[in-house]
Amino acid sequence: MDIFNKCTVNLGPLGQYADQTEGYFMFPKLEGDISNKMIFKGKERLIWSLNNYLGLANHPEVRKADAEAAAAYGMAYPMGARMMSGQSNYHEQLERELAAFVGRESAYLLNYGYQGMVSVIDSIVDRKDVIVYDSEAHACILDGMRLHFGKRFVYPHNNIENLEIQLRRATKMTEQTGGGILVITEGVYGMSGDLGKLKDIVALKSKFNFRLLVDDAHGFGTMGPNGAGTDEHFGVQKDVDLYFGTFAKSMAGIGGFIAGEHKVIKYLMYNMRSQIFAKSLPMPMVLGALKRLDMLRSQPEHRQKLWTIVNALQNGLKEAGLDIGNTESPVTPVMLYGGVGEATQITFDLRENYNIFCSIVSYPVVPKGVILLRLIPTAVHTLDDVAYTIKAFKEVKDKLEQKAYSTDMASIAGL
Ligand SMILES: Cc1ncc(COP(=O)(O)O)c(C=O)c1O
Repeated sequence: MDIFNKCTVNLGPLGQYADQTEGYFMFPKLEGDISNKMIFKGKERLIWSLNNYLGLANHPEVRKADAEAAAAYGMAYPMGARMMSGQSNYHEQLERELAAFVGRESAYLLNYGYQGMVSVIDSIVDRKDVIVYDSEAHACILDGMRLHFGKRFVYPHNNIENLEIQLRRATKMTEQTGGGILVITEGVYGMSGDLGKLKDIVALKSKFNFRLLVDDAHGFGTMGPNGAGTDEHFGVQKDVDLYFGTFAKSMAGIGGFIAGEHKVIKYLMYNMRSQIFAKSLPMPMVLGALKRLDMLRSQPEHRQKLWTIVNALQNGLKEAGLDIGNTESPVTPVMLYGGVGEATQITFDLRENYNIFCSIVSYPVVPKGVILLRLIPTAVHTLDDVAYTIKAFKEVKDKLEQKAYSTDMASIAGL
């Protein structure tokens, strides 16, 4: 059997409709300046699918800093992995400033958030240790755990009673193995927008001996009085032992970081395979991140504008009778009920007739029958954008309830 046979037989859960969906639903191209309005298929659309929370992606100060850094250093410098030949004063400066911003002793840069998280998990646990994690954990957490040779116990999403049960099991297990326990949650859950129950999780530290790792990809820059994250929002920074942030969202860049106690970060520096065996972040990314971090600290107006848009959008959608779940963050899911065929028709209607572009998730990513339209408000949206979108969503919901959308998956074939 040729191992490549599978490539034509079955492209997997996401790829199975590739012929019909590629270029429109999957791998769409958004063109023009990154903003609230961009070009899709030659036409201007209102965009709600970019994690450009603070609107920094195309901010003139950011563009200038990126351009100057690229002119000064190119994309190559520094060459090699940090440990070998890829170290620089600016990498270290960014780490010091990030650590201070999120209230930790030290931080270490990660080339990508995803790979970094995989590697943090891989290096901080060994076969004697037990991982306890939330059932809705991001793929990077699940993939980090795939490298773990020891036990892992899952608790249903945000179910603290069940977490306690898993911690009891984990404690028993580690008493036998001599290992420790790592609990992993997200700060903001990126699909549903609800928050990891950090306060309740941290409270369990009085009963159980564990360390807590928080993936705050969506919370860094958006949550907390200073935008320092979901643990700042809950006032539990000192009890979150490892804090993970990415530059790919609020910072509108690329890369990420892990922050915590100095001795732990030092250990990670010498053990994270994603950093030891991969080239250092290029200088424009580092200087660009320093600029963005400076703006996060000194220009709270971006975060304030974001939350003005978030509140207007979420309140308006609720008032219009739409179900936005339990979000407490900028991530705004709109739940509708129907099949995959209807989901694709709705997306098409929104894009072609309302010129609204948002991400859509249906089965198998969410339960059968749920259609999740995910809106990401940003500081560059306007209140007019919000009013227009609420009206459009209300109309779409009414049409869905009146069975105006085809349920037939084949109906998308002609798109
Ligand atoms: C919760 C979460 N963790 C980690 C990541 C990965 O971050 P990056 O895009 O920097 O690889 C993402 C991004 O999609 C995310 O949503």
